[in-house]
Amino acid sequence: MTTDKETPAREEGIPPGHRHPHDHRGMHEEAWTRERAEAVLDAPDRARSQDPFVLWRRAGLNAGAVVVDVGAGSGFYAFPAGEIVGPTGRVYAVDVSAELIELLKERTEARGAANVRPVHSTPERIPLGDGLADFLLLANVLHGVPSSTLREARRILKPTGRLVNVDWKKEPTPGGPPVEARLTVEEAEAALARHGFSPIDRWDAGPYHYALLLG
Ligand SMILES: C[S@@+](CC[C@H](N)C(=O)[O-])C[C@H]1O[C@@H](n2cnc3c(N)ncnc32)[C@H](O)[C@@H]1O
Repeated sequence: MTTDKETPAREEGIPPGHRHPHDHRGMHEEAWTRERAEAVLDAPDRARSQDPFVLWRRAGLNAGAVVVDVGAGSGFYAFPAGEIVGPTGRVYAVDVSAELIELLKERTEARGAANVRPVHSTPERIPLGDGLADFLLLANVLHGVPSSTLREARRILKPTGRLVNVDWKKEPTPGGPPVEARLTVEEAEAALARHGFSPIDRWDAGPYHYALLLG
């Protein structure tokens, strides 16, 4: 039977500390519900600690670029990317959650964001072509996605493209996943290096997050 669950059968029920050493995940991330996304991802105070426009500008995003946001959630980073890339660019907002793809479609229509395209994926397959993206974003998802999703990220990104990874610092913060599930900067870079990504830059992305740029 095919399901949306990304945990390979051999890992089911295996606690994080006993997984294969090459498995970077501290926890199993799942398809989010609309209710959870509206409560957490759309929290009114969120923009105070994470500014998507500042992140995109710092990463070098410009008009006309093609962006793939993997694990786009309710569009916190995808819609600002759509404003920056403008009518000559495109943003594919990818998520494994059918509920959130519906939510993204509603928001795309309500905002008239014609250049933002919601794309329903599975952990093993993102239905987009090879070498399509100038930028690929992983925001608050790397700690929970399997290797198959990272292989897809590498396939979709242009050889000259840039991967942007934003994630929670591995320290206690208000909100966010449990600290033991988070990745340090070094662990995140190592997980991405296994899929052919080399570090280019890293910076503080607000009080609770770090950002990495890789190519
Ligand atoms: C913590 S939320 C982050 C959402 C968004 N990036 C943000 O920062 O607002 C994680 C999102 O990733 C999605 N997700 C989980 N595993 C995934 C995978 N393997 N591929 C794509 N999306 C995934 C979930 O459904 C959820 O919407």
